[in-house]
Amino acid sequence: MAQIFYMAETDSTNSDIMRRAAQGAPEETISVALKQTGGRGRMGKSWFSPEGGLYFSMLFRPETDVSKYYGAAIVAALSAAEALWESVNLEVGVHLPNDLYCSGKKTGGILIETIVAGNTLLAMAVGIGLNIDVKKEDFPRDIRETATSVLIETGKKIPPRNLIIPLRTHLIENFGKLKTQGFGAFLADARESCITLGKRVSVRYEGRESKGEANDITSKGALLFKPDDGPEIEIPAPDSVTFI
Ligand code: BTN
Repeated sequence: MAQIFYMAETDSTNSDIMRRAAQGAPEETISVALKQTGGRGRMGKSWFSPEGGLYFSMLFRPETDVSKYYGAAIVAALSAAEALWESVNLEVGVHLPNDLYCSGKKTGGILIETIVAGNTLLAMAVGIGLNIDVKKEDFPRDIRETATSVLIETGKKIPPRNLIIPLRTHLIENFGKLKTQGFGAFLADARESCITLGKRVSVRYEGRESKGEANDITSKGALLFKPDDGPEIEIPAPDSVTFI
């Protein structure tokens, strides 16, 4: 069985797992830290990473065509939602492209980083950040009204480490299924859990931003978006999707 590296502190568990990947760590190796000094989100943003959160990264070595993994962030989000439901009875929704939401606020995020050669996906770090034992007043002012945590939602003080094994179990099961069956096998669950669908949103992609309706997820994990000023389009990896 691949190792789980438990760290008191690291810069970013995604960076840590990629360093271990470069040294030959096997698939399913995990890095977990009590806090991060340089936690990273998507699009160059930072990720607030005090003690009380879960900072978890898992290594996969798909060695297959990169297009099979376009839905990987949604699969990771579904896995985290399953782990949260199983461990703390908290229902979270998936907000495209990579967020976990509860009561209209963000409780976690997914950061997938890859090493690709040609069209082959050689290695992939699946990074998951969950706000667990974090009080409202502990969040920085700029995200205090838009972020939430397991503590805020349930009133329960849960040690973040309780989520590690459930997350590992669901990720291994779901990424195994993604590899053999493709994203289509998750489509029904993704549609059910996705809070973005059917809403008016502003989508940023390919250097532009447009307003419209988030209509559906495709069998490849792309967003089907109907801009107000044009026909429906498929967006495989939107930079951001904001409710309006
Ligand atoms: C986002 O919402 O933009 C994604 C946030 C991802 C944060 C996690 S915490 C564990 C892993 N290490 C990082 O530096 N980032 C991810």
